[in-house]
Amino acid sequence: MTERYVMSIDQGTTSTRCILFDHQGRLVSVAQREHRQHFPKPGWVEHDALEIWRNLERIVPEALAQAGVTPAQVAAVGIANQRETTVLWDRVTGAPVGRAIVWQDTRTDGLVERMGDAPGVDLIPERTGLPLATYFSAPRIRWLLDHVPGLRGRAERGEVLFGTMESWLIWNLTGGVDGGVHVTDVTNAGRTLLMDLKTLAWDEDLLAFFGIPAAMLPRIGSSTEIYGTARRVIPGVRIGAALGDQQAALFGQTCYSPGETKCTYGTGGFLLMNTGTEPVRSQNGLLTTVGYKIGDEPAAYALEGSIAITGALVQWFRDGLGLISTAPEIETLARTVEDNGGCYIVPAFSGLFAPHWRSEARGVIVGLTSYITKGHLARAVLEATAWQTREVVDAMNRDSGLPLRELKTDGGMTADNLLMQCVADVLNVPVVRPMVVETVSLGAAYAAGLAVGYWADLEGLRRNWHRAARWVPAMDPARRALEYHNWKRAVERSFDWTR
Ligand code: G3P
Repeated sequence: MTERYVMSIDQGTTSTRCILFDHQGRLVSVAQREHRQHFPKPGWVEHDALEIWRNLERIVPEALAQAGVTPAQVAAVGIANQRETTVLWDRVTGAPVGRAIVWQDTRTDGLVERMGDAPGVDLIPERTGLPLATYFSAPRIRWLLDHVPGLRGRAERGEVLFGTMESWLIWNLTGGVDGGVHVTDVTNAGRTLLMDLKTLAWDEDLLAFFGIPAAMLPRIGSSTEIYGTARRVIPGVRIGAALGDQQAALFGQTCYSPGETKCTYGTGGFLLMNTGTEPVRSQNGLLTTVGYKIGDEPAAYALEGSIAITGALVQWFRDGLGLISTAPEIETLARTVEDNGGCYIVPAFSGLFAPHWRSEARGVIVGLTSYITKGHLARAVLEATAWQTREVVDAMNRDSGLPLRELKTDGGMTADNLLMQCVADVLNVPVVRPMVVETVSLGAAYAAGLAVGYWADLEGLRRNWHRAARWVPAMDPARRALEYHNWKRAVERSFDWTR
């Protein structure tokens, strides 16, 4: 019998990746393409949704060709995506309405502040498990409806559709203007501020609060179900899963039991703990979110600590400051010095997310003296990721009452050994990394494979998880306490910077 594979598409903040996996969960081929980041004004971040679609049209055949696989050998495709990024497009022409507004974009800051005093605002955390913040999609949809002439009328008539990236890609894959399927999944819909976390349906009161017409919204499906069959790019292949990328990583790390936790380090850092079939409300600035929903089974929920900027700080160090020419060089540069020299960088480029939720915060560098070299700055860049992780782990420990004993990590930044050691040091727990660090892609593949019976159950998937590396804490407790104290003071400096 011809060998069969599962395909995953990871549409992330900086690039789109297509990976083929075999039955053991091993990576068979990978093709990837970056897309342009548009920063038209301070705080604005945009993507061209058509560029992303065209990238997908190129990388999918590349991944197939590398492995010598035909679409007929692909059992299913699963999609994972950057969450909250908002795309509106014309149902008839297929053209996006302007550029997509990315999850890091803070243009809705003023709108969010005004809405924060409006009657009914308390419904948001109650029904969605999320705070009202610029991070989520609904304020962006509202901003577009208010700013693009004639858009509201078109949206009310169902001529303009809303979606996050998985919706946009599924619609295009299944035919686009020629009968494309307009659908999202619970993990993505749950990040709009419009979905009720319990009923997993669009909430009429929240739609009214934000002034968003229901006609523009996709159907909400499970994370694992057959949404349709591709008619373009990979004709005949069933689309068996869609999940927000962080939930996909939870799935790929096989965190299927309550208490299991992972942290993915990409553009941002996202720590998710599976909390089982009942949503746990955070008292400490974390998000309550859907982890995944397999077919008709009850949803699994998660607590999430979202950090807006981790890898993006390294990227800024490389592209904005030009102090290194490739991201991995940050480790070499940071190793030229013993410590941070008293310097701390708080990367509040998009405000601060968990556990602070301060949209108005802006980045600061504190502790500069003439002693500071680019080596110290490099170290402060890496430490910023570690301390931000510590803040969300503290919140997670308080919310769950179960102190974290070990952290599973994944994502591009886990290649940086100094960073991983630093995370273990500041958390004071061991940090482990699996063999396959592409857990976002793996999770999307697992979910799609389950939908079509390529994999039988979660237990089988667990057996595919193998540890590749482990870092144990080695920091003096007094130093840890002092450094954390300094970090917290630096964070306070970033609050209210623009006010
Ligand atoms: O919530 C935003 C998150 O989904 C983005 O993840 O890996 O694309 O930066 P990433």
